[in-house]
Amino acid sequence: MAFYRSLGSVPPKRHTQHRAGSGSLYYEELMGEEGFSSDSALLYHVGVPSAIVDATPWDVPGQETTENRPLKPRHLRLHELTGPEWRAVDAVAGRRLVLANGDVRISYVAAGEASPLYRNGIGDECVYVESGTATVETVFGALSVGQGDYVVLPRATTHRWIPTGEAPVRLYVIEANSHIAPPKRYLSRYGQFLEHAPYCERDLHGPAEPLVLEGTDVEVLVKHRGSRGVTGTRYVYATHPFDVVGWDGCLYPYTLNVADYEPITGRVHQPPPVHQVFEAHNLVICNFVPRKVDYHPLSIPVPYYHSNVDSDEVMFYCGGNYEARRGSGIGPGSISLHPGGHSHGPQPGAVERSIGAEFFDELAVMVDTFRPLELGEGGLACEDPGYAWAWSGRGPAT
Ligand SMILES: [Fe+2]
Repeated sequence: MAFYRSLGSVPPKRHTQHRAGSGSLYYEELMGEEGFSSDSALLYHVGVPSAIVDATPWDVPGQETTENRPLKPRHLRLHELTGPEWRAVDAVAGRRLVLANGDVRISYVAAGEASPLYRNGIGDECVYVESGTATVETVFGALSVGQGDYVVLPRATTHRWIPTGEAPVRLYVIEANSHIAPPKRYLSRYGQFLEHAPYCERDLHGPAEPLVLEGTDVEVLVKHRGSRGVTGTRYVYATHPFDVVGWDGCLYPYTLNVADYEPITGRVHQPPPVHQVFEAHNLVICNFVPRKVDYHPLSIPVPYYHSNVDSDEVMFYCGGNYEARRGSGIGPGSISLHPGGHSHGPQPGAVERSIGAEFFDELAVMVDTFRPLELGEGGLACEDPGYAWAWSGRGPAT
């Protein structure tokens, strides 16, 4: 994210003495990506940011996956994973793994309790807020988040989720093993959003001020790579990680609300890349937002059948009525997984019904991966077993 911000107290010259009113030095920390060769930020801490007093293993639960075999389209009802216990569930430890491969893990949680301090040492997180509100406190300052927000948290950003409403905050969590950023084609060679991009800098919201919290012996959960996949460590820091008095740079957490995404439409059906919002290594994130639909006099507004031979396609339905899936049992909170090597398209009758439509009131977040996805324990726990046969209207003979 090559969009410079400066918050709080920073010295006029980098890497020079920066002192509190008492005369004590602040401790400068550089957070930088790709080995000092990409975006970075300089943060000024009251305490020494690397001072730990304890480290113990944290076993991240529920990381096992099951292959999608026989290879089938799947329908997963994520709302079935949540219940009245949400008040005691936090947005980090309470995540249920739905789908995963070596590039990304997708999980879901409905949370009512503040999470521990946490950071993901494997890659960036893009957390879509399906509903509810929360404050995300980070080492860079706090973000107020609500329905429709994408919350992008760079790798190694220490943070915690604090739900703030009477209803659970429902989060669709995309954990990449790489960096998540706007598509390169939306940006000038120097990093400014171009005129054809469906959103721009004004739509991105970072923290407004540093938190400057005090504390000693503060626990932080860190997710990182282990020899058998995802694992974790529980650290205790001598001073509070949120003791930053100021920072500047181009690396920081931010939000983008899906309602600020301006859809690109055409006379005939536009392909999914026009709906792209972010990219990461071996995956893209797109969104299908309420929009005017195709206006050629003979247009068919729902998609043609398509075989996305190089990717698995994951749609998360989070608002309105998704026209192409009417009659399939899919509704708000559903995921459809359409794997590579398998053709998919509208449900029976949807093509005919869509002719003459002028507007689709639909909202869906799509993740396309370029390596096959496997099912997590959460995905297995909420599957609709009849979905694969929805196009033919009949399943295997019993
Ligand atoms: Fe598709």
